[in-house]
Amino acid sequence: MTDAKTKTAIVTGAGGGIGRAIARRLAHDGFAVIVADRAQGPADETVALIQAEGRQARAEVLDITDEAATQALIDGADDLRVLVNNAGIFDVKEFDKLTADDFRRMYEVNLVAMATLCQQAARVMPEESRIVNLASRAAFGARNYAHYVASKAGVAGLTKALSLELAPKQITVNAVAPGVIETDMLKARSDSLADMKAQQPTGRLGSPEDIAHAVAFFAHPQASFVTGQVLIVDGGRSVGGTAAF
Ligand SMILES: NC(=O)c1ccc[n+]([C@@H]2O[C@H](COP(=O)([O-])OP(=O)(O)OC[C@H]3O[C@@H](n4cnc5c(N)ncnc54)[C@H](O)[C@@H]3O)[C@@H](O)[C@H]2O)c1
Repeated sequence: MTDAKTKTAIVTGAGGGIGRAIARRLAHDGFAVIVADRAQGPADETVALIQAEGRQARAEVLDITDEAATQALIDGADDLRVLVNNAGIFDVKEFDKLTADDFRRMYEVNLVAMATLCQQAARVMPEESRIVNLASRAAFGARNYAHYVASKAGVAGLTKALSLELAPKQITVNAVAPGVIETDMLKARSDSLADMKAQQPTGRLGSPEDIAHAVAFFAHPQASFVTGQVLIVDGGRSVGGTAAF
């Protein structure tokens, strides 16, 4: 159970690599965190880690494409102040092989479910609440996953549009666009970790904690004048133009 006096943060996909780091960080920052994921075991593991650190968390198992389930998630959150739309899917397929259903499935999870959650949350959030969306550096272009790239470009656009619509309510809406971060998601790629590291200016890939710090900034009460931004967190790989991609 979460303490009703504590502000609540929902993190979707918080059983996964980046979401877990975000959930732990927001719990550390004083939020009661709802760990929302379609996978029970990983969600429970995240909750156990947070509780072992003496912080508050509980799990909610749902598929974010189920609108009734996301409404129940929002309804069950006491004093909701932060929504982090992190859950996402990824796979690799060259453009010629992609089907319309591949695009629809990617949009349903990465974009439509996010838009629905933003709408449901914004209806109940008080002033000075925060929405943070996970985009991707790939939103600016990448080969062999056009459906994912398009969905994440949609996330960037949605973030900017909502930042204006929710500004009168003093709700900020920002996005973090990670570069290559070491999580299970990378298993869908055929290139090796060594090759990915070799392309990084820093010589290392990002960690989930690198992304959690950026999300925590946008979620902070003092970030109230920062909205509609898409922050690339990629160790500098995108600096210098498309040659770096
Ligand atoms: N890892 C990277 O390099 C990278 C780069 C750029 C952007 N991102 C983005 O960061 C976010 C987190 O990625 P990650 O690397 O931690 O991935 P991950 O695969 O480790 O975790 C994703 C989590 O989302 C959950 N999820 C997926 N679909 C869901 C659904 N329909 N309903 C509920 N939960 C669902 C999964 O169960 C999983 O726990 C994603 O939006 C991803 O697109 C990741």
